Amino acid sequence: MDNFIFEYPVKQYFGKGCAEEAIKTELKTAGKNVLLAYGGGSLKRNGLYDKLRRLDESGKNVTDFGGIMPNPTYAKVQEGARLVKENHIDFILAVGGGSVIDCCKIVSVQAKTDEDIWDMQYSQQLFATEFVPMGAVVTASGTGAEQNCGAVITHEEKKLKQPLWGAYHSFAVLDSDLTKTVPMNQVISGAFDTLSHCMETYMGLPHNLNLSDEINEAIMRNVIKNLRSLIQNPDDDFARGELMWASAMAENGMLKLGKQTDFQCHMIEHAVGAYTDCNHGQGLAVIHPALYRHLLDAGEAQLARMAENVWSVKADSSLETARLGIDALESFIKEIGLPTRWSEMGITDESILRAAADTCFIMPGCCKQLSRDEIYEILKEQM
Ligand code: NZQ
Ligand code: ZN
Repeated sequence: MDNFIFEYPVKQYFGKGCAEEAIKTELKTAGKNVLLAYGGGSLKRNGLYDKLRRLDESGKNVTDFGGIMPNPTYAKVQEGARLVKENHIDFILAVGGGSVIDCCKIVSVQAKTDEDIWDMQYSQQLFATEFVPMGAVVTASGTGAEQNCGAVITHEEKKLKQPLWGAYHSFAVLDSDLTKTVPMNQVISGAFDTLSHCMETYMGLPHNLNLSDEINEAIMRNVIKNLRSLIQNPDDDFARGELMWASAMAENGMLKLGKQTDFQCHMIEHAVGAYTDCNHGQGLAVIHPALYRHLLDAGEAQLARMAENVWSVKADSSLETARLGIDALESFIKEIGLPTRWSEMGITDESILRAAADTCFIMPGCCKQLSRDEIYEILKEQM
């Protein structure tokens, strides 16, 4: 493993039914003016919104910031930042999936400066150090967004969906009961996102097996097993909880210790997302097998190890084992009902795929530096 320094600021509340007490405890010490941030309507439908609004009764002034959309936009970040400034918000409570949680990370830094955060980070390479404190209550797991300070934001005018860097949430509430109303297709998409984070970390540098990778293998096996269980029985609270913690573990930095991650698949998916607003986990499912077939030679060692230790397949040669592992991944994607073609997601315009190939980040941690034409080939093969 490479050398590292590890410091981690997010307090974790994990467990079925833990949310109410956790939120009460944390908000005691938060300031008086609270921004309650949430998505498009699930929070109101499942009754959590009414419970949270009762915070008013505990002497807090609560301001709503609702309607945060999947794949949150930069315009929505600006709306949130305005609300924080106008209402002198002391604390942001993000209640939702990755989209709500990400949006709030950037609201929290944008609210502290009149500079344009996008411009600061991408043109001036300047990163804000002041932020409004926040906490995250996860209602849909998979992204692990509550664990890190990166946020994926869509800039609609620039046609870019890219990471911005914000603050860490001071706490994360991981109560599997809150995820029970998530539609199964989103549960599957979220769990596949977790698996993708694991694979993208595993495929990164250095390539020799190390402790981070061995922990990673256990998490990948756990996600595969518990997703199968949950699809069979949506009332399997144990599997629900395991998937929630696996999602957190994949993004809390532990698996990345001593590694440079790959994340090429994510960068390609985000670029497609900028043009199509597609579902993140579904987009990853379409790209992963095709990308790995293009990385077969350069990534043979890691792909073969993943094939044996995660998918339990082995052939006579390492190359053939790697190939079998990719086949197993693709079969799993089909088994859990995720798409393997863009057309299944309603994406049929090749010029979008070309634009995505031309704008996505090329990742230094990927075992092969793909050309833009090769990325376009990968995307086109899955049409
Ligand atoms: O908006 P509402 O009505 O709440 O509905 C949401 C949304 O439609 C619904 N949902 C959430 N909790 C629910 C629920 N429905 C019923 N009951 C509940 N309890 O789920 C839908 C999807 O929500 P969203 O937050 O968009 O999904 P996800 O958690 O997959 O987040 C996706 C976003 O996170 C980014 C993705 O790019 C995408 O923008 N990512 C963030 C990462 C990070 N910061 O570390 C890492 C990831 O790789 C990812 O890129
Ligand atoms: Zn992801």
